[in-house]
Amino acid sequence: MQATPTNASPQSGGWSGRFDEPVAEIVKRYTSSIPFDYRLAEYDIAGSLAHARMLAACHVISAQDLSDIERGMAAITGEIQAGKFEWLLDLEDVHFNIEKKLTALVGDAGKRLHTGRSRNDQVATDVRLYTRAACDEIAKLLVALQRSFIAVAEQHADTILPGFTHLQVAMPVTLGHHLLAYVEMFARDYERIIDCRKRVNRSPLGAAALAGTTFPIDREMTAKALGFEAVCRNSLDAVSDRDFAIEFLSACTITMMHLSRISEELILWMSPRFGFIDIADRFCTGSSIMPQKKNPDVAELVRGKMARVQGHLVALTTLMKGQPLTYNKDNQEDKEPLFDTVDTITQTLIIYADMIGGIRVKADRMRAAASEGFATATDLADYLVRKGVPFRDSHECVARAVKAAEVKGVDLADLSLAELQSFSNVITDDVFASLTLEGSVAARKHIGGTAPERVREEIKFAKARLGAL
Ligand code: ARG
Repeated sequence: MQATPTNASPQSGGWSGRFDEPVAEIVKRYTSSIPFDYRLAEYDIAGSLAHARMLAACHVISAQDLSDIERGMAAITGEIQAGKFEWLLDLEDVHFNIEKKLTALVGDAGKRLHTGRSRNDQVATDVRLYTRAACDEIAKLLVALQRSFIAVAEQHADTILPGFTHLQVAMPVTLGHHLLAYVEMFARDYERIIDCRKRVNRSPLGAAALAGTTFPIDREMTAKALGFEAVCRNSLDAVSDRDFAIEFLSACTITMMHLSRISEELILWMSPRFGFIDIADRFCTGSSIMPQKKNPDVAELVRGKMARVQGHLVALTTLMKGQPLTYNKDNQEDKEPLFDTVDTITQTLIIYADMIGGIRVKADRMRAAASEGFATATDLADYLVRKGVPFRDSHECVARAVKAAEVKGVDLADLSLAELQSFSNVITDDVFASLTLEGSVAARKHIGGTAPERVREEIKFAKARLGAL
């Protein structure tokens, strides 16, 4: 849907009788939200229909009024879907645009729709419905993303690469284990978005402008009709609260942060210095001057877009800071950050699920890197401990062995038995099993460990966790 608002209408907003002069053109453009809030139309109509049905059930409007409103809204929905609805700048926002059009179509019934409500509870309702739909979409995409990561982890349960701390080679790990670390992050992201949805899914409708209404309304009825789990219990809070949007943006920021971390790794891994992976061409671009270049643009842009989403979170918390109760026009600024976050994160999640499935793993390069940097030094220390040497002493022995190997320019596993024995006389020829990369990872088979055997277990666990959703 595209909106190109015009100001063809001579009508001004819904309050004009009180004013002696029309709003200045520049002010109209400055205060109008229709250029972006037209995106709330479907939720605005759903909210209006629920409100109208409730008003009729409570005998505030007649059955005839309700049927006129329903007919008008059906026509409006059709026009919007066909891209034929004319959004007018003069009518400020999506709420006025739809209401005026309804009145043009069905007359007085349209004018009765706004009985017992205000744009303040209306916009809060619309934004909550929009955010709820976004939670559902993002939750679905987070599941798909986990499935993609799990599939690659499954192919690489045995593939060894160096694990890093301080970006220095630390211990060998399996690629499956490394990817499952991200599955844990995305599983938490999923939990967070589902939890956030609970607080999104409460109905402000009926709070009216701020203090409620004198009409005998049934707030439970509109809440139920719109699929809300509960009603907001305080009318002042109902119209002014945007915590739900802030929570949502926080959850999205954390997800984007996770994606920026894996992006950073993919970028490093694709650099020829690492040479661990290749990213499929469809996610990369070349250079206009350097013919040899293939750049991991998508991963870099994801890293960059995290900043954008985090910026939106900061914008919204700052927007709410120091606002007195209840609704203030400041709140109109909640929408663009929210919409842009939803657009950004949904596209990112879709692209990422495909991109991760398309990486080409260069297992030989990973293995070679794990063989450098004495990644099995801790395994040698543990070996000595198993032979009765206190850990602090074994740590010291191994440090000396590492130094000797470094001087010789070889790995620990390349030292002869006699050389190793010069650092500790408890060493026998079974030591080499501990010094191999395979021996090192295979030994870490407890819950949370990197052993291929454990990775396969965890894949089952992660799949079952998704299956149970
Ligand atoms: N366009 C407004 C917004 O986005 C709708 C609510 C306006 N309410 C008001 N009292 N001016 O927040």
